[in-house]
Amino acid sequence: MRRAVCPGSFDPVTTGHLDIIGRSAGLFDEVVVATGVNVSKNRLFDPDERLAMLEEAVRPWDNVRVSGFSGLIVDFCREIGAIAIVKGLRGATDYEYELPMAQMNVHLTGIETVFLPGATGNAFVSSSLIKEVAGFGGDISAFVPDFVAERLRAKLAR
Ligand code: PNS
Repeated sequence: MRRAVCPGSFDPVTTGHLDIIGRSAGLFDEVVVATGVNVSKNRLFDPDERLAMLEEAVRPWDNVRVSGFSGLIVDFCREIGAIAIVKGLRGATDYEYELPMAQMNVHLTGIETVFLPGATGNAFVSSSLIKEVAGFGGDISAFVPDFVAERLRAKLAR
């Protein structure tokens, strides 16, 4: 069983994430989408809300499951027997951000990171931008599943 982990904040999950998750599901026997804490980012949704949205979003794939994790991603990978971390790259800025983490993760436990190029249509899609646009009433329906758009509307209306 070749298992991979797709980690992220997923605050909230976007079509860009789902593109990477779906393509990972074609490359590995099982993909675990793991929602963790990025200490340098402010979160809108709490961990349970992010997990619930992910669970609904990954329903189309039989070999994808969702989990929360705390602590180091490499420890989580070891715990569940994953052989790789999969990350999507939208461009050079993502690469610059991801490369040191991938190198650190190899140093820590030897786990490799597989980078997938993001689909060109998703190059500008990020959870942060979606939250900002949605916060000012902009239309983000093209970039998140419908149920996520609804949750965003409800959260931001409070
Ligand atoms: O979607 P994000 O915000 O880019 O996700 C980043 C995340 C949560 C995957 C990353 O910050 C992470 O792996 N955090 C867990 C702690 C950890 O292992 N940090 C060291 C990375 S080398």
